[in-house]
Amino acid sequence: MSATFRNLTFVVLLGLLYLPVQSQTIPDDNKHCLKCHSSQSFTIFNKLTEHNQRRLMNPLYILDTVQIKTGVHHSFSCTDCHSYEYETYPHNGDLKLEQLMTCIDCHGGDETYASYQFERIEDEFKKSVHFKISDGQFTCSKCHNQHYYKATARNSDNIKEIVKFSNDMCFSCHNNMIKYQLVSENQNPQLVQVHDWLPNQALHFEHVRCIECHTIVADSLNVSHNIRKKEDALKLCVECHSANSMLQASLYKYKNIQARSEDGTFNSIISNSSYVIGAYQNPILNLLSLIIFIATLVGISIHLIFRIIKK
Ligand code: HEC
Ligand code: HEC
Ligand code: HEC
Ligand code: HEC
Ligand code: HEC
Ligand code: HEC
Ligand code: HEC
Repeated sequence: MSATFRNLTFVVLLGLLYLPVQSQTIPDDNKHCLKCHSSQSFTIFNKLTEHNQRRLMNPLYILDTVQIKTGVHHSFSCTDCHSYEYETYPHNGDLKLEQLMTCIDCHGGDETYASYQFERIEDEFKKSVHFKISDGQFTCSKCHNQHYYKATARNSDNIKEIVKFSNDMCFSCHNNMIKYQLVSENQNPQLVQVHDWLPNQALHFEHVRCIECHTIVADSLNVSHNIRKKEDALKLCVECHSANSMLQASLYKYKNIQARSEDGTFNSIISNSSYVIGAYQNPILNLLSLIIFIATLVGISIHLIFRIIKK
């Protein structure tokens, strides 16, 4: 795509920012595309036979309209990102070669999005294993679907939701041979086997993000993006299961989650991890164990006294 065209598109897109009302509905002109791209089959008029024909849609090209509506780019027309030529079907074969914009093309160097630190994220991503293995094939969009993305960690106050949203990105490829092969010639290693040293794997994958163990926390960055080699992954249980769990600096650091501590829910997240050894001491349990201990001592002494008296 030529630089002028890119700049022009950018200006048009910036205009979108100033739309006075952000409607949560899909723009009308998208309905034409979605008539085909949100259903299992579609109809075309065959000029040669002069009949309508039903065809099957490639399941990987079916979009989820519910997820589009909740995504950050819901106000976009399809043709803001894809070529106008897609309005005709059969689509022109050359369109397959169309260079699509990445996050940085639109968000890089833009003050409006400074808090997201797109450029730093890109720098971190370029250090990651994914970037290194793939000869440029591994783009941001391999994790972030531009149709559906919504910033979750910084907005949600539900840890499970944050974890699920984040881990689903990894699962969508590491547990999916088809997608995995887009970026690798090799078999995808089975996650369950790779992590068989971790007890209660399913529970862990619901409560911590993959990135907790596979990146180092970059303090000023909301989400660490440097996925490191497996040799560098975190395996030490006490990193999380201890009083100063590293999770305080990663998963639990978000203000939106801590805000919940006002109604006590955040504390209960940490305390819920009574397994997070030492992170939380329950005073009632402490008292109870002290009472049991004293009662046992008293019991033993009484028993001893009676034995001495009997002798
Ligand atoms: C009549 C049904 C129909 C309509 C309308 C339609 N498409 Fe498609 N589209 C398809 C089918 C079927 C494919 C699968 C590939 C093919 O047959 O060309 C496809 C493929 C695509 C692809 C993937 C191309 C590739 O091979 O990488 C994109 C992107 C796309 N369409 C975008 C759009 C956009 C944007 C619109 C609206 C402006 C649109 N389509 C309207 C049926 C349709
Ligand atoms: C914000 C930009 C953006 C918008 C808006 C957008 N797309 Fe896409 N679309 C992309 C990108 C980027 C890809 C390539 C994804 C990749 O690299 O894997 C893509 C891929 C596709 C594909 C190929 C299948 C896939 O998921 O890889 C289809 C089909 C498609 N888009 C249809 C649509 C339709 C229909 C709309 C409107 C409802 C739309 N897109 C709106 C950026 C966008
Ligand atoms: C074609 C240009 C374009 C591309 C590509 C693009 N974005 Fe956006 N994005 C925008 C525009 C414009 C908005 C503002 C939309 C609005 O306010 O309705 C936006 C909004 C956002 C927001 C919400 C910002 C806020 O605080 O409201 C996030 C987060 C975001 N994009 C992330 C991404 C990510 C991640 C990618 C890559 C996977 C990406 N975008 C790709 C143009 C783009
Ligand atoms: C290996 C997967 C992966 C890749 C590749 C990736 N990201 Fe992310 N990214 C994530 C995860 C996981 C999150 C956390 C999602 C959430 O909760 O919002 C995230 C969050 C983000 C956020 C939101 C941060 C915030 O402060 O709220 C932005 C912006 C972002 N990524 C941009 C990018 C850009 C730009 C690229 C490419 C240079 C990229 N990402 C590549 C996995 C990835
Ligand atoms: C509790 C920490 C932890 C969590 C959570 C975790 N991993 Fe791992 N992961 C590791 C460790 C440690 C290794 C190295 C294992 C070894 O070499 O024996 C590893 C290895 C891997 C490998 C390398 C496989 C191979 O052999 O090539 C992949 C891929 C991987 N993890 C992906 C993930 C994904 C995806 C998630 C989230 C669903 C995840 N991990 C969650 C600690 C973790
Ligand atoms: C689009 C597919 C895709 C997505 C999405 C993806 N990965 Fe990967 N990942 C790969 C491939 C391919 C490899 C490299 C295998 C190789 O070394 O050949 C890999 C390698 C890894 C490795 C191991 C590197 C090593 O030393 O062998 C880890 C750890 C990892 N990914 C974690 C993650 C995490 C965490 C996420 C989500 C934030 C994620 N991946 C998202 C495809 C993906
Ligand atoms: C990345 C942080 C992290 C690491 C590393 C980690 N855990 Fe956990 N673990 C958690 C979290 C979070 C929970 C869920 C606590 C809760 O229930 O809220 C958990 C739960 C558990 C549970 C409780 C399961 C149950 O049945 O309720 C056990 C047992 C456990 N972990 C053992 C381990 C062992 C052993 C290791 C080292 C091999 C380990 N964990 C490594 C974060 C971690």
